[in-house]
Amino acid sequence: MTNSPRERTRIDLRKAINAVSDVVQNRPRPLREFDQIHMKTGDMVLQSEMVADWADGKNLAFIGDGDAISVCVAYLKKREVLDFGPTKIMVFDFDERTVEAVKRFARHEGIEHLDAQLYNCIEAMPDCDKYDCFYTNPPWGASNMGESVNLFVQRGIEVVRYEGEGMIVIADDDDLPWPKQVLANVQSYSRDAGFYVSRMQRKLHSYHLDDAPELRSCNLYISSLPDNGGRCRPSEPASGEKLANFYGKSKEPRVRYVKERKRLDYGKAHEDEYELIPLEDSQ
Ligand SMILES: C[S@@+](CC[C@H](N)C(=O)[O-])C[C@H]1O[C@@H](n2cnc3c(N)ncnc32)[C@H](O)[C@@H]1O
Repeated sequence: MTNSPRERTRIDLRKAINAVSDVVQNRPRPLREFDQIHMKTGDMVLQSEMVADWADGKNLAFIGDGDAISVCVAYLKKREVLDFGPTKIMVFDFDERTVEAVKRFARHEGIEHLDAQLYNCIEAMPDCDKYDCFYTNPPWGASNMGESVNLFVQRGIEVVRYEGEGMIVIADDDDLPWPKQVLANVQSYSRDAGFYVSRMQRKLHSYHLDDAPELRSCNLYISSLPDNGGRCRPSEPASGEKLANFYGKSKEPRVRYVKERKRLDYGKAHEDEYELIPLEDSQ
């Protein structure tokens, strides 16, 4: 289950799946209007192992993470399912439900190296520590040639201060034109920022996506060129045409944050979902 050339011990698959299942129970339900579409659970298990291996011993920032791969990676290490993984994980997301779910899970499980922060990537990146690598599974940019992906990638490049690595999870499909255009544009954008494509794992993940259940995504890895830190410049807010069709056709960003209204236990049925009919009434 590893892609690493390094020697790894065998993973207990049952323990791994059950740990990821705990994370999925804690995950807020997706809001389709913001392109929140969750990765399928089997793929999350494999993806988490790959991310843990790639970011072993490093500081890792997530630019958006509705899937909760960050939590899986941290929890698999805490549970000793994996004996490798990042030393620090920070999630930046504009959805307070996601941010609070990460924080609650970390508190409950005593995972000290996992944290989250409310942030909208349309705004300039706030002051933060330097990270070694970033991970993003952004809005896939089907209607803007990947401009929305590039904004998330830009924030990732900023948190590593232009020196480090990135894993970008985006659409990958041989039969559709737009994923190829997006892939080309993201690669070209990364190159302009002083990064090269160091690896690509094709058509790996499936999603709970009712209108395109066959659509897969890839892991596109980018790495900084030598001495790229010199390109580092202050972060700026995004504006204008970069935001056109951000979440799909004519869906520009209009929301700063998604606020958590009520603390929900996502793993249990909610009271407003069902009604109890007493025995005597049904006879
Ligand atoms: C856009 S979704 C992409 C699909 C991915 N499989 C998922 O559901 O997480 C990725 C994450 O980006 C976050 N996100 C969307 N728009 C954002 C924004 N403007 N700033 C920061 N995070 C954002 C979402 O809340 C979500 O957690």
